[in-house]
Amino acid sequence: MATADPSPPDGRPPSRAEYERAPRSSLTRGAPFKADVVAVELEGRSLVVKDFAPRAWWRRVIGRLEIDRECRAYRYLGPVPWLPRFVGRLDAEALAVERIEGVELARSPERGARREHFLTQIRAALEHLAERGFLHLDARNNKNLLVRQDGTVVLIDLAGSFWIPPRRPGHRTLKRLAALYHEATLIKWEALLRPEGDPRVGRPKPPRYVNGLIDLYRGWRRLRSQRSNVQRSNV
Ligand SMILES: Nc1ncnc2c1ncn2[C@@H]1O[C@H](COP(=O)(O)OP(=O)(O)O)[C@@H](O)[C@H]1O
Ligand SMILES: [Mg+2]
Repeated sequence: MATADPSPPDGRPPSRAEYERAPRSSLTRGAPFKADVVAVELEGRSLVVKDFAPRAWWRRVIGRLEIDRECRAYRYLGPVPWLPRFVGRLDAEALAVERIEGVELARSPERGARREHFLTQIRAALEHLAERGFLHLDARNNKNLLVRQDGTVVLIDLAGSFWIPPRRPGHRTLKRLAALYHEATLIKWEALLRPEGDPRVGRPKPPRYVNGLIDLYRGWRRLRSQRSNVQRSNV
């Protein structure tokens, strides 16, 4: 629907009727337990809509909680360059964000050549999140880091995240936990973005969570040695 006053990318969210009428293409294959993730063109804006409405009733019930959580996560963090701009909620079962024109970072042809550039951005984003008492549990997932055409890394998929605002009980503990978990996430991306490719690819896959636990242990050691370096330099 064309209007005389095109909204900015983070203007009002479309209604469901507008969304259903708009030209669209699926970004995911409509897995039975996941939301439909759909790219739509609306009033000159390129948006992505995450929608649980086509799922079975029981999945929609859980989906509503996920949509609610993801919307609140975007609102808590506010606009930052390494998140898609949040547009809003269509209804209880769907949300809209800015569409990132780019590719998955893990598949970017530039991932080896611009490794340091990408890692610096991931580190800064994850440090910022931990500093705000925000734990992104799903940034290890290859599919949840995208890269814009200008080389900016963007984190998506905030449904699996957890945060405690400043001055609330548990904020400091969560900050420490997030710092550790995010260090392990960074270690995974350091491996994934090696110019020669991820050394784990092609090797027999260890049981689930083993790589994650190894990365957590490495992250813990790294943070510990950083802390003792700081203490030494303060003496
Ligand atoms: N804002 C976006 N811009 C471009 N592609 C996106 C965007 N959001 C999601 N996608 C694509 O859709 C996929 C699924 O979206 P995601 O939010 O991760 O949902 P899910 O919970 O199904 O993993 C992503 O891996 C990505 O390829
Ligand atoms: Mg995802």
